[in-house]
Amino acid sequence: MKLLEQIRENAKKQGKTIVLPEGTEERTLQAADQVLAEGIAKIILLGKPEDIHALAEKHGLKNINKATIIDPENHPKKEEYADLLVEIRKNKGMTKEQALKLVVDPLYLGTLMIKNGDADGEVAGARNATGDVLRPALQIVKTLPGISVVSGAFLLLTNKPEYGENGLIVCADCAVLPNPTAEELAQIAVATAGTARAIAKIEPRVAMLSFSTKGSAKNEIVDKVIKATELAKQMAPDVMIDGEMQADAALVPSVGNSKAPGSPVAGKANVLIFPSLEVGNISYKLVQRIAGIEAVGPVLQGMAAPINDLSRGCSVSDIVNLIAITVNQAAARK
Ligand code: ACO
Repeated sequence: MKLLEQIRENAKKQGKTIVLPEGTEERTLQAADQVLAEGIAKIILLGKPEDIHALAEKHGLKNINKATIIDPENHPKKEEYADLLVEIRKNKGMTKEQALKLVVDPLYLGTLMIKNGDADGEVAGARNATGDVLRPALQIVKTLPGISVVSGAFLLLTNKPEYGENGLIVCADCAVLPNPTAEELAQIAVATAGTARAIAKIEPRVAMLSFSTKGSAKNEIVDKVIKATELAKQMAPDVMIDGEMQADAALVPSVGNSKAPGSPVAGKANVLIFPSLEVGNISYKLVQRIAGIEAVGPVLQGMAAPINDLSRGCSVSDIVNLIAITVNQAAARK
């Protein structure tokens, strides 16, 4: 069975509840209908019920009546969530008045539902920019214990078995942290190895990417990757991590052998760690668009509960896949 089918099939066994704050976004609604039809998750849609029903009728979406629909303006737990928000953000000066305004924002409401145990995960971003999806998540749900950095991984389904793990490559950070320090880059590497194990079900071989392989170029941004490699190895001695290396040394056996002989990763990397968000975001979009590679994600890593952000250019099937991944992440936490 192909990876995405496995992820969807596994999700069906979990009975998890996913909140979709963009309940009146058309692709999101179509994806919700498919998720409900296939039993991938229970769905909470946030939005005006009359708008959701009108859109469902327009698109002939027969399963939307199985979703729980919540109007953020008239939410029965508005007061309770406002109190929860004040409690979480009081050291940042949050007042009850400010909290009452924020809880009607679907992106805040979705994360508060998760924090309160009313939903297991969230998927948003078909309509909203990444920063707007992530900010409430980072402020309310926050990071896992012992982790300070949230980052975003993509599963690249290359269909080229000579690369990665039979064509599958997991890469990060493509979505969140613009300019990580060496320590943060090391955390991203370890978290991505975890995603490779938990979601892609592969044993990670992690390449820390740069424009230099094993000292071939000297620059402070290369030094950052060298330091991050050392730190990541210390943080996760059970994971195969090596660097710094160029992308061809990481992926092509002959180049890996000649540029980094003896490396446990070079030439056979299945996890690629980019030195900055600029590199990661541009790289995944280039291979997705020019090479036609399926890029699934971003899968957010390091968050205390699974919240995933879509690209605004996403398709209905991208949303269904990300909901299934979110269910798998929620199941892996328990
Ligand atoms: N990991 C963990 N916590 C973080 C992170 C992170 N990577 N970044 C910020 N935070 C925390 C902060 O500590 C802060 O917590 P606090 O309020 O409790 O003290 C909170 O999140 C808010 O942080 P700010 O710095 O005030 O928020 P900012 O406006 O910088 O937003 C954000 C953070 C949204 C992640 C920002 O860095 C961002 O916009 N990143 C780029 C996202 C993006 O546009 N990606 C490209 C598109 S994605 C795609 O194409 C698939």
